[in-house]
Amino acid sequence: MTNEVSKPDPNHSDNARTGVTRRKMLATSAGALLGASVIGRAQGATTKTDIGDMKPHVDFSLQGKSALVTGAARGIGRAIAVALAAAGADVMGLDICAVAAPNLVYPPATADDLAATGKLVQAQKRRWIGVTADIRDMPATQAAAERAVKEFGKLDIAIANAAIQIYGPLAEMSDENWKNVIDVNLNGTANTLRAVLPHMLSRKYGRIVIIASGQGRHGFKNGSAYAASKWGVIGLMKSVAWEVGKEGITVNCVEPGLVDTALTRNPGRWKEALKEGGKQPNDQPTEQEVIAARLPQAVMGIPWMQPDEVAPAVVFLCTDAANRVSGATYDASAGDSVKYTA
Ligand SMILES: NC(=O)c1ccc[n+]([C@@H]2O[C@H](COP(=O)([O-])OP(=O)(O)OC[C@H]3O[C@@H](n4cnc5c(N)ncnc54)[C@H](O)[C@@H]3O)[C@@H](O)[C@H]2O)c1
Repeated sequence: MTNEVSKPDPNHSDNARTGVTRRKMLATSAGALLGASVIGRAQGATTKTDIGDMKPHVDFSLQGKSALVTGAARGIGRAIAVALAAAGADVMGLDICAVAAPNLVYPPATADDLAATGKLVQAQKRRWIGVTADIRDMPATQAAAERAVKEFGKLDIAIANAAIQIYGPLAEMSDENWKNVIDVNLNGTANTLRAVLPHMLSRKYGRIVIIASGQGRHGFKNGSAYAASKWGVIGLMKSVAWEVGKEGITVNCVEPGLVDTALTRNPGRWKEALKEGGKQPNDQPTEQEVIAARLPQAVMGIPWMQPDEVAPAVVFLCTDAANRVSGATYDASAGDSVKYTA
């Protein structure tokens, strides 16, 4: 194998930082233009400063920004809405506030839940708009984004958080369950991005964070539909990040580990947690049993996280300090990510 970067070559500039040979750059006029700008930047970096413009970019404020958070009525979405507000952003919280699909083994969020999120956002002295809508409904999702732009003046941030979870072995899974999980988690997330992107593209600014899952980073027995949807949103994120990278818009994913919310605090999810821990669950597993099954595998010594422990990673990705973070997956998993390689 030849190493064009380190091999002495009269046509090869001293350009190890970029990993591109001078000969290759000059191959086309476009390459030559790109080469000039890359070399210019590389030289600037070595002759002027080693750390960019020498200003520490540690401003994590979202003052003056506005955000749309889907699935904001409770759980992780609520924690993100409140954390964004605490950092200075006005927030629109969107939620279906109803049963999102048959066969969910946990109760639906309600209009009162969404209103409670609104009170918490307002307690941070930020503006709040609550919207009841289904992210599978593209016109309704677009209307929400348009309303945010109209009432806040612009939309800087979108957090695609809403999702559902249904477990079951693939061979036995009903068509209905498979389609509902993919429709909410993958199609609904894509709808959310398609609704906000035109507004961000027109201003050449945007921060998009998709809430994926640890189950979008590894397999999960009986969780094929959910895991497929969460691997799917990571592929979606990486592709869209590339499409809009030159337009001032970043797109990233945050992958929570197990978090204590209505989605997980129920006998159905606890049974899967027990099976994951090698235990045979009965019909009504207790919290103590689940904790005992999870603790031996718990990297940070806790059985699950709280929603407000996920939210700060999301806030960071929305700040200007993260303006060069895009196409990335951020695990907020209390260390579960030590167990997978990608
Ligand atoms: N709780 C966990 O352990 C965990 C772990 C990894 C990832 N996640 C992800 O975090 C996100 C939030 O999950 P959570 O645990 O807070 O669950 P949750 O059920 O408490 O909250 C999800 C919210 O999304 C809303 N929603 C569902 N379908 C919708 C739709 N079609 N349109 C609009 N709103 C809809 C629900 O009404 C609910 O308020 C989800 O993407 C989930 O997959 C959760």
